[in-house]
Amino acid sequence: EHEDLAATPPMGWNSWNTFGCNITEQLIRETADAIVTSGMRDAGYRYVNIDDCWAEPERNAEGELESHHERFPSGIRALADYVHDKGLKLGIYTSAGTRTCANTMPGALGHEEVDARTFAEWGVDYLKYDNCNNQGIPATERYAAMGEALRATGRPIVYSVCEWGENAPWEWAPDVGAHLWRTTDDIKPTWDTGNADGYPMGVVNIIDANGKLADYAGPGDWNDPDMLEVGVHDVEGYPGLTDTEAVAHFSMWSIMAAPLIAGNDVRHMPENIQRILTNGEVIAVNQDALGRQGAPVRDDGDHEVWVKELADGSRAVALFNRGDEAATISTTAEEIGARPAPRYAVRDLWAHTWTVTDGEISAEVPSHGVTLLRVRPKR
Ligand code: DGJ
Repeated sequence: EHEDLAATPPMGWNSWNTFGCNITEQLIRETADAIVTSGMRDAGYRYVNIDDCWAEPERNAEGELESHHERFPSGIRALADYVHDKGLKLGIYTSAGTRTCANTMPGALGHEEVDARTFAEWGVDYLKYDNCNNQGIPATERYAAMGEALRATGRPIVYSVCEWGENAPWEWAPDVGAHLWRTTDDIKPTWDTGNADGYPMGVVNIIDANGKLADYAGPGDWNDPDMLEVGVHDVEGYPGLTDTEAVAHFSMWSIMAAPLIAGNDVRHMPENIQRILTNGEVIAVNQDALGRQGAPVRDDGDHEVWVKELADGSRAVALFNRGDEAATISTTAEEIGARPAPRYAVRDLWAHTWTVTDGEISAEVPSHGVTLLRVRPKR
């Protein structure tokens, strides 16, 4: 039952990457509308997640959270109803500390039961539980307390542990009821920081960290390399991603079986961004029922080959060019673990073209690009 709630990586949207604390109930309603009209809902995006700054700065006289009176005047229950009526689900946020990270609202530390009950009564379907102001209490204790409180509500609520990979959550988060756990610091809308200690985190830095954790992922349990930066720009002076980089980012999140939580303004989405986010063949790799996280089978410095085994026996293959020059990247059916066969059908999941090969697999990959393929023995 735990596993059923996130049998495949959760898909949705979250307010933080584009809007930060600048959120209102109208933004959330308009976003839900746009998720439907843009085709994102039909592509699989379900959760509409409100991040930090949605609540009043203090608890009410009963010790409960209330939504911010000016920015969310109708309340979260009304918002949940609105979102549910569209066939979507509502997510909310708080911190396993005394205050949230933006410090604008109370955290749930020591208030786990009342807050979990409040969320369940409102009809919330997903909780992202952050790590700020944690008073030095061990993460396992803090996250177990909320996991238990959520379970006690009896409502199925996806539980997203957001302690940034600080305490190796992949080793304990499944035991506290989590469905996903962040593996790194916050992603920024940039390809690579070029900073040796990898902070702040660009797309490449995140791939390096999250890519090592493939063995911990499976149905109901997902490594979370943070939310998507596809179509996000002009944040804190970061450059944003080129179209090629955005395709690479989405391809790698897909092959890593990462939660696909869009972070852009989906109400005003250029067509190229919409096409990336709704590419059904790429999403099918991410949402594959086997639930494997893909991993590198070859690393030639700037050029990498990643493979994800899929439920039908085929293999998703990412030819990943981290370098500053276009390059031909090659692998073979044998190297990707494909079943021996005289010929293979190769689908390019971005170009939407088929080719046939007797085992050599090769593509010209642009700088900062990924060619994403699906390879199966040809009948
Ligand atoms: C830190 C988290 O990692 C971010 O994703 C976001 O939730 C912010 N906190 C909100 O303050």
